[in-house]
Amino acid sequence: MRIAVLGTGTVGRTIATKLVELGHEVTMGSRDAAGEAVTEWAAENGEGASAGTFADAASAGEVVFNCTAGTASLSALEAAGAESLAGKVLVDVANPLDFSRGMPPRLSVCNDDSLSEQIQRAFPEARVVKALNTVNAAVMVNPGALSEPSDIPVCGEDASAKETVAKLLEDFGWPAERVLDLGPITSARGMEMYLPLWLALMGAVGGPGFNVRVVRAS
Ligand SMILES: NC(=O)c1ccc[n+]([C@@H]2O[C@H](COP(=O)([O-])OP(=O)(O)OC[C@H]3O[C@@H](n4cnc5c(N)ncnc54)[C@H](OP(=O)(O)O)[C@@H]3O)[C@@H](O)[C@H]2O)c1
Repeated sequence: MRIAVLGTGTVGRTIATKLVELGHEVTMGSRDAAGEAVTEWAAENGEGASAGTFADAASAGEVVFNCTAGTASLSALEAAGAESLAGKVLVDVANPLDFSRGMPPRLSVCNDDSLSEQIQRAFPEARVVKALNTVNAAVMVNPGALSEPSDIPVCGEDASAKETVAKLLEDFGWPAERVLDLGPITSARGMEMYLPLWLALMGAVGGPGFNVRVVRAS
């Protein structure tokens, strides 16, 4: 599959590298197509990897991953272009973390709205699926490295888009029964508001290599 990864940070590079390993053709997008992060990543990852602007990547991909800073995601997606996003599965991995007032970060949107909903409203023809924002980048693509199976929530309005994302998550190593469909895009509020708890858990367990599991009543 041709996949766009918008974002050159740890998440974009980790997801893009995994997708190339899985045999996909990946275009990584950045504000600057000649920037060091994006050109180095493309040079290091062989034939399946290419670099471009957000717009180049979005037009090339059949599926688009948003791995940009949450407070900048709307402008990055604006640069990607509504036409290039129309009809496509848009996997929103971003968290709306605002570090401008120091640590811990505040959420720039929460309670009765979420970044994913803002994205879905701004790009109504994109098929937005929130996924992977609840774990660290290394865990996203290698959940089997954790000592026990754990859960990964997804949500969005479009059932077939969620199926596409669930298949990609399985390829990343998430067992199908651990992909929890939380229903509509409004569930992104909870997935994003989990971040303050995730940050506190990281402090409590001593690092980012962890995840949670839902345990049901027997
Ligand atoms: N780090 C993790 O393990 C983790 C886990 C879960 C979710 N997340 C979320 O995943 C996303 C990516 O995280 P990250 O740590 O890999 O990288 P990041 O530093 O949060 O974001 C880097 C990307 O954001 C773009 N960006 C920054 N400011 C911008 C602006 N003003 N306009 C347009 N684009 C802008 C950068 O573009 P350029 O390429 O042009 O510089 C770059 O591609 C974030 O939303 C984060 O909250 C992170």
